[in-house]
Amino acid sequence: MSDAETLTKAAVLILLGPPGAGKGTQARMLEEDFGLVQLSTGDLLRAAVAAGTEAGKRAKAVMEAGGLVSDDIVLAILKDRMAQPDVARGIILDGFPRTAGQAAALDALLAEAGQRVTAAISLEVDDEAMVGRVSGRYTCGTCGEGYHDEFKKPAVAGTCDKCGGTAFKRRADDNAETVRERLKAYHDQTAPLIAYYDKLGVLERIDAMGPIAQIRTGLGAIVNRVSA
Ligand code: AP5
Repeated sequence: MSDAETLTKAAVLILLGPPGAGKGTQARMLEEDFGLVQLSTGDLLRAAVAAGTEAGKRAKAVMEAGGLVSDDIVLAILKDRMAQPDVARGIILDGFPRTAGQAAALDALLAEAGQRVTAAISLEVDDEAMVGRVSGRYTCGTCGEGYHDEFKKPAVAGTCDKCGGTAFKRRADDNAETVRERLKAYHDQTAPLIAYYDKLGVLERIDAMGPIAQIRTGLGAIVNRVSA
């Protein structure tokens, strides 16, 4: 983190976009570039499923079917995570909020701490390309670094660039049929938040169909501008 750019204030950034838009990929890069903390409700829910908690048991089937987990479960998990001290560095919300209820709850939570959303950045992509992106995705089983069969291969085949791990895994919901359900859930319940944040004057849009590095640069410019 020593070479991360320093922001003048702790940012609260939201990455909006359908499955495969690159929210996780770019959030991890923003962590590296700016010392921010990535909060992914998808990762938090998958951890709850793996740990077999009550919330995880309730979430598992919904996630495997490509639907949205209920707001009460997601909010409880997110609030726990936001109570940890590292979030004071500034946060990137990846996959949250996803419903109008979650957006209102986030506003209330931030208001309690005298904060507000700094920017909600919509990663704009073509749905059809997302099926290919998600089906080709895999992650390092040790550190979670994300890869893709075609677009982001490790420098040495079979070895994670970041931690040297050699075990990789694919998500249970990363198949074409479930991705189509997830896209539908996104358009029905999450895409309306783009207008919500536009009305609040904090919406930013970025074309997320280009190369990963180019999007990283564009996002960095947005983060510097909105945090000035
Ligand atoms: P979640 O884990 O949030 O999944 P998602 O939103 O479906 O998003 P993805 O992780 O699939 O995609 P991404 O945008 O992060 O793309 P990535 O960077 O990996 O949620 C999973 C489930 O949990 C939900 O379906 C729901 O059930 C539940 N859930 C989570 N949050 C919830 C909430 N708030 N409320 C209710 N339920 C919730 O990129 C994809 C691939 O493409 C990678 O392999 C990457 O290397 C590659 N790639 C990325 N960018 C590019 C590029 N520019 N060009 C080429 N390839 C690229």
